[in-house]
Amino acid sequence: MTQVTNTVRFVLDGQIVEARGERRTTTVLDYLREQLHRTGTKEGCAEGDCGACVVMVGTLNAAGTGVDYVAVNSCLQLLPTLDGKSVKTVESLQRADGSLHPVQQAMVDCHGSQCGFCTPGIVMSLVHLVQRNTQPDRQTINDALSGNLCRCTGYKPIVDATQQACRPGAPLKIDDSADVPLLKEIQRDTQPTLSLDGEIIVQPVVRTRKGNEFVSPATLAEVAHYLQTYPQATLLAGSTEIGLQVNKQFSRPEHIVYLGLVQELQRIDETPQGWRIGAAVSLERVLSLVAPVYPDFAEVLRRFGSPPIRSTATLAGNIANGSPIGDSMPCLMALGATLVLRRGDKTRNVPLDQFYTGQKKNQLQAGEFIEAIELPKPAVGQVFRAHKVSKRFEQDISATCSAITYRLQGGKLSSVKLAYNGLAPAPCRAPKLEAVLEGKSPADVKAAELDAAIAASFTARDGLRATWAYRSLVARNLVLEFIEQ
Ligand SMILES: Cc1cc2nc3c(=O)[nH]c(=O)nc-3n(C[C@H](O)[C@H](O)[C@H](O)COP(=O)(O)OP(=O)(O)OC[C@H]3O[C@@H](n4cnc5c(N)ncnc54)[C@H](O)[C@@H]3O)c2cc1C
Ligand code: FES
Ligand code: FES
Repeated sequence: MTQVTNTVRFVLDGQIVEARGERRTTTVLDYLREQLHRTGTKEGCAEGDCGACVVMVGTLNAAGTGVDYVAVNSCLQLLPTLDGKSVKTVESLQRADGSLHPVQQAMVDCHGSQCGFCTPGIVMSLVHLVQRNTQPDRQTINDALSGNLCRCTGYKPIVDATQQACRPGAPLKIDDSADVPLLKEIQRDTQPTLSLDGEIIVQPVVRTRKGNEFVSPATLAEVAHYLQTYPQATLLAGSTEIGLQVNKQFSRPEHIVYLGLVQELQRIDETPQGWRIGAAVSLERVLSLVAPVYPDFAEVLRRFGSPPIRSTATLAGNIANGSPIGDSMPCLMALGATLVLRRGDKTRNVPLDQFYTGQKKNQLQAGEFIEAIELPKPAVGQVFRAHKVSKRFEQDISATCSAITYRLQGGKLSSVKLAYNGLAPAPCRAPKLEAVLEGKSPADVKAAELDAAIAASFTARDGLRATWAYRSLVARNLVLEFIEQ
């Protein structure tokens, strides 16, 4: 029988930490500050917007020789997801001789900090950047900082400091050699535990006396098995929605299934037709995948949240959450993406443009989950365009985001697929607009026809982000822009 257990094991600066007796929804930020007194990591917004809480989370690399890091918003990440991983906070950067990391020293030298509240998060985002790129240009630095708000210093001295820190030969790489053997020691099992009669037993990270659990399976079979036993269990992928629900709505799911360590869900497989993107693949990895083939999709993803959000957030989480203004869905719908849904040992494929049945309603049945997203490769002659309209360039919610695919045959538009978010209760295709475009030469498409099709397709509704007059105008102008270029 499964025992009551409540110990999360992770590595912090050359030591194994055993976090005992914490709730399954305790955030990494709260644990670091309240239990470990690592108060360098700050809480600003507790909703992933300000970046004051950024830390680096590490996993043992595939060869077992080093640590791969992601920068995350610790306010959104739940403590049990750290089991088997390592963490670096701003306190980790201090060297044995007391000297600062080159990024910290350059922040001092370039006056990159005033009140200092944002500084630890900014430093951690930058230290993460320079682990992979020791000569970042200004645009790369700006992108890396897009999830860190500083209200008093201004960004110029911070960007200058980063460039100054990256002088040739600077010791930018953090020393994590002591963490590697400990990470090996606390690795989670990669195979399911089986009972004597061959039944899968999903071992919890946290299990309370009431029977509430946080499980962190390693295999797809375990996820499917667990969801058949507990169909109401909450799936946890990148935690950028769930973390908000925990912090702002005090959500306390009884059963949480973390997908981040499931090997099959971490994979991107290429087929002759396209790519099969596992449900736990981060948006940063999707961005790298689509950048050469669908640059506009990559640009939409570059403007999706911020690097710490994208380092954990997933396409499957975006799709399952089903927000009317979810940004990945218009691109995926226009490109003809299909979802692979799994329940037990059975799978079915559902085109994404048929997945939603209403606001935050979809075709998933009890115990069913998204296993993968199938993204087709570009067809010969296919044009793909997409654009997100929001008040700020990054870290902002769409007024609307639209995407289109078409071909030009004999100068006429054909095979048109057009999709939007922000206009309807769920992201959707726009068949009436597609019909206006199909078979016409771009020069013959009239704005008035598009306006009429928009009016006939959607219910006029003003929203917090934009009025209907603005949204519908933008929706029309995006189409004109997409077919002009
Ligand atoms: C600061 C901030 C900025 C953001 N910016 C944007 C933005 O620009 N554009 C945008 O569209 N969104 C944005 N979001 C929303 C969020 O980041 C996305 O929806 C993200 O893709 C969610 O993915 P996740 O893996 O973090 O989901 P999680 O939080 O882990 O889960 C979200 C939901 O999906 C379910 N779920 C997860 N995986 C599966 C699965 N495999 N099968 C079935 N159900 C599953 C979960 O149970 C949960 O209900 C932002 C959020 C924050 C906090
Ligand atoms: S506290 Fe603001 S992003 Fe975490
Ligand atoms: S130094 Fe004050 S918020 Fe950045």
